[in-house]
Amino acid sequence: MKALQQEASQCAEMIKKANAIVLLSGAGMSTNAGIPDFRGPQGLYKRAGIPDPERIFDIEYFYRDPSLFYSFHRELLKALDAAKPTFAHFFFAALEKKGKLLGVITQNIDALHQRAGSHKVYEIHGGIWESHCTKCGKSFDYETSKRMTFEKEIPRCDNCGGVIKPDIVFFGEPVKHIDECFELARKADLFFVVGSSLVVTPAAMIPSATSGEIVVVNKGEVSEFYLPSSRVALRVDADIDEFFRSVNEELKLL
Ligand code: OAD
Ligand code: ZN
Repeated sequence: MKALQQEASQCAEMIKKANAIVLLSGAGMSTNAGIPDFRGPQGLYKRAGIPDPERIFDIEYFYRDPSLFYSFHRELLKALDAAKPTFAHFFFAALEKKGKLLGVITQNIDALHQRAGSHKVYEIHGGIWESHCTKCGKSFDYETSKRMTFEKEIPRCDNCGGVIKPDIVFFGEPVKHIDECFELARKADLFFVVGSSLVVTPAAMIPSATSGEIVVVNKGEVSEFYLPSSRVALRVDADIDEFFRSVNEELKLL
């Protein structure tokens, strides 16, 4: 506990000095909101019970058999309905309000950063707020595609019968806003990696583009392949909300 307080004090000092903070968030940021992560102990890929669970989000597999994705997507939609932003989401929104944060780069599709009040959010893995027909390109809003997802095993376009796919970036598809994200990282004087295992590229390559100090907050293993520990000024292995509540005790942002 003492160690966590010391780390929180160190982090608070770093935030006080910083003027250009950038956050890269991953699925661990939203587990306290009830949305499961992928590779954590209770993660989707562990619970899926299938070999090669990443194929749930593989675009070639989706075109062959969209039912695998949709069986998991229905569960995610239910979790999203009940989810509220966590303390950490509000903490980073408060940093933006204070004029200290340049932007949030998120691998998450849950929009909890925006719901907490963050405006400068780059959803590099897309989102579920819009869906498109994979055949004719017709667009469907969130409520319509959600209704269709619960009505049918596989939602299909009313125009052409093609399979509908939410605008989530699947493996094999290009990520969004990547140039802006690297630019943001270069401009940052303090770069946070929060709740990510840093195994999925190109997101995992973004932090090392910064010349600022890097803080990693994640319970459990974080890949050092793209971000060697020598580049990390502060590594916190603790619950995200517990840690940022402790940082906030010093900064009183919330
Ligand atoms: P991962 O599931 O790979 O990593 C989440 C990390 O957060 C794990 O190391 C957890 O131990 C940690 N964690 C979970 N809850 C936490 C908490 N309350 N406090 C502290 N740490 C916690 O998620 P990402 O790195 O975001 O992509 O995964 C990257 C991409 O892989 C996702 O965007 C998704 C997935 O395949 C696509 O679907 C395209
Ligand atoms: Zn269509």
